[in-house]
Order: sequence, then C-alpha cells, then structure tokens
Amino acid sequence: MLVAADKMLKDALKGKYAVGHFNINNLEWTKAILETAQENNSPVILGVSEGAGKYMGGYKTVVGMVKGMIEELNITVPVAIHLDHGSFEGAKKCIEAGFTSVMFDGSKYPIDENIEKTKEIVELAHSKGISVEAEVGAIGGEEDGVIGQGEIADKNECKRISELGIDFLAAGIGNIHGVYPENWKGLDFNALGEIKGEIGEMPLVLHGGTGIPTDMIKEAISLGVSKINVNTECQIVFTEETRKYFEENKDKEKKGFDPRKVLKPGYEAIKAKVKEKMEIFGSIDKAN
Ligand code: 13P
Repeated sequence: MLVAADKMLKDALKGKYAVGHFNINNLEWTKAILETAQENNSPVILGVSEGAGKYMGGYKTVVGMVKGMIEELNITVPVAIHLDHGSFEGAKKCIEAGFTSVMFDGSKYPIDENIEKTKEIVELAHSKGISVEAEVGAIGGEEDGVIGQGEIADKNECKRISELGIDFLAAGIGNIHGVYPENWKGLDFNALGEIKGEIGEMPLVLHGGTGIPTDMIKEAISLGVSKINVNTECQIVFTEETRKYFEENKDKEKKGFDPRKVLKPGYEAIKAKVKEKMEIFGSIDKAN
C-alpha cells in the first residue's frame, strides 16, 4: 500500500522502533526490499536519490515501477517512495511525479535560506498529502556527488526548522554516509538528546545507517530516532555476491549468462540484509 511517511514514523516514535529507509538503485533492489517488507509485515521507505532517479529513467519511471510492483506482488504493508537529499527543484519534480514523500536537503544553505525554501516545499507537498523531511547540519561523507562535512546540528536551528510544519527531521549527530573510518568517534547522544528536547514530538532521521553498531542504533531509537537510512551496506553485499558468482564461473554453466541468474545472488543478499536491519530497527510485525 503506497502511503506518505508521516503516519508510519509517528507510529514508530510512539512504539519505540524505527522504519528502515532503503535506497533503491534498480528493479532488483526495489523488488527485494518490497518482498522483504511484506514477508516480515514491516512498513518500509524506498529512498531515491536524484542520481538513482536519473539512472532508473526518471522519477515517473520510478513511481510507475513501484506502483506496479505493489499491485502485482500484492504488497499490503505501508510503503513510501521518498526522495533522498533532494534539491529544491528535485523536490518539486518528485511532488509532481507522484512520490509520496520528499526530503528537501537545504543544509548547504545559510539557515534563513534553508528555512525559506523548506517552507515552500512543505506548502507544495502538504497540499498533495506528501510528507516532508528537512535537514539541519550536513551529514558527512559523499553520496551521489552530494558531499557533507559531518556536523553536529545546531539545536536552535533544528527548533526553527521543526516549527515549519515538516514531518520529520534529519539532524547531523556525527553520522556520515558510506563506510565509517577506523577513527570514527561514534554518534553524539548528548547532541541527540538536546535536539530532541527542542523539537518535541517530531520523529528524527538517522542518515548513514551503514556500519553503525547495533547498540548505538538502539540507543538512538530510544532517544527519538524513527527512520534510519541504509544504502551502502546493500550495495556492498550485492556486489560481493555478484563477484562470487563470476569467480565461481557460474556464468559459464548452462544458461548462467542469463541476467536473471546473474543478478539473483545479489538480490538474495539484499533481502537478507534488509531483514537483518528490520530486526535491529524493531519494525517487524509493525505494519498496520
Ligand atoms: P549509507 O550509505 O551510509 O547507508 O547512508 C544512506 C543514507 O543516509 C541515505 O540518505
């Protein structure tokens, strides 16, 4: 069932669990995530970066693919199609294309400009029942050409953005995209607690979910994180399993060159990874 993400995250905040946002890259990714959510009776958010949207043929193609799968694979759990780290123009395009949720990432702008632009996106999106994620304090690392420096968000800025009617907020607390470096200091739970104190009953989003230890994930959830974004980990397991397929010369056996066979081990690996994350996040059996 295709829905906006506001209600599922409010439910998650109340129930002290988090909904996984898994980035999609192609048809196999999308099908793997949707089927895993259905098998585990879990709500799910399909994250689409601007780069991945373009790669898949455009935002309308993505919406068509997801809607078709929801219908034909009988996916009854709540599913949101969510723009990840959208630009101002990108967010507007996704609102038009039929996304049910958008992130406008104005963290690169001075706070007043971020506020102005976020406000405009909220008005547009809410007029169509679409949920909005905003960001304060850039998330570190690099994702699809979007480079953030890894900051601790300013709690007063978080408060200002949270008052614009957004549905959930991404605030940097030392998290970064991609694999964490050896010397990573971990999440800043003091900052998380202070931010939460300023924004009240608004769900928080934790980006850079790849490689964050389980105990830190659980603590973050207990402090108000209700959406956790995972991308790199699925990419890594997909590529590892695909590599094995070729290393074991499976492509040379019978019709092993058929792309449906080539992509199957990677597809299964994504399913296992998504299930593992849903267990850690506590979203299994939370579809209602
Ligand atoms: P990772 O690639 O580190 O899992 O981060 C994903 C993310 O935050 C998407 O917005």
